[in-house]
Amino acid sequence: MSCSFDIDYSKLPSHIAVIMDGNGRWATKKGVPKLSGHKAGMEALKKIVRKSGEIGVEYLTVYAFSTENWKRSTEEVGGIFQILVYYMERELKEIHKQNVKVNILGDYSAIPKKAENAVSEALELTKNNTGLKFNIALNYGGRDEICRAVKALAKDVKDSVIDPEDVTEEMIASKLYTGGMPDPDLIIRTSGELRLSNFLLWQSAYSEFYFTDVLWPDFDEDEYLKAIESFQHRKRNFGGR
Ligand code: IPE
Ligand code: IPE
Ligand code: MG
Repeated sequence: MSCSFDIDYSKLPSHIAVIMDGNGRWATKKGVPKLSGHKAGMEALKKIVRKSGEIGVEYLTVYAFSTENWKRSTEEVGGIFQILVYYMERELKEIHKQNVKVNILGDYSAIPKKAENAVSEALELTKNNTGLKFNIALNYGGRDEICRAVKALAKDVKDSVIDPEDVTEEMIASKLYTGGMPDPDLIIRTSGELRLSNFLLWQSAYSEFYFTDVLWPDFDEDEYLKAIESFQHRKRNFGGR
């Protein structure tokens, strides 16, 4: 059933980020293997990508695999990346047709070779697309990202490119994976957890948060629009009056 929403489509958040959580609990609830939950999660993601492009969201960033998710069993980790490869192979043409530009946040050279190749292919094929900018946070951690930025700046100081006194917030931001992008206006987390889990630590300074108990595989277009509607009722101050 499609609901109606009180949304001003001319004032959409330009950058929406999503912590796609709850695949495991969805699988447990259904009595199916965890990997079926991750597969169902991919189906939800397809819907949200398509919807974002249709309504004209500029940036969509999704948390797909964290630097901490390596702690899971090799079976689950291997399965997640297999599902990613499967998704890329099956959906890449469709995403490309939708004019979506794929970008990766995180060090994807550390993921299994097949997945790395699939990711490289997606980046290459969609690099000139001008529609939705679709960031996939893969082997991403906010602290790892900040650590890399600090290293890069320390190197610039060592090479006398900059003086320590001259380091600015903009310089730090430019060294992050999101360099050149606006900060997320809205961060959605599904499945009822009320935390960031190392996602976009720097960039979320003034983001609006939307938490829902809906498990990620059940998150559909209507749930997405509900989140956007809620965002549009917020009053953002950025510290001012
Ligand atoms: C999120 O779902 C997907 C990844 C972290 C890769 P989970 O697998 O964390 O689902 P829950 O939290 O166990 O329900
Ligand atoms: C966050 O979910 C990471 C992703 C959604 C990819 P987790 O399930 O890993 O987060 P925690 O461990 O519950 O904080
Ligand atoms: Mg989880």
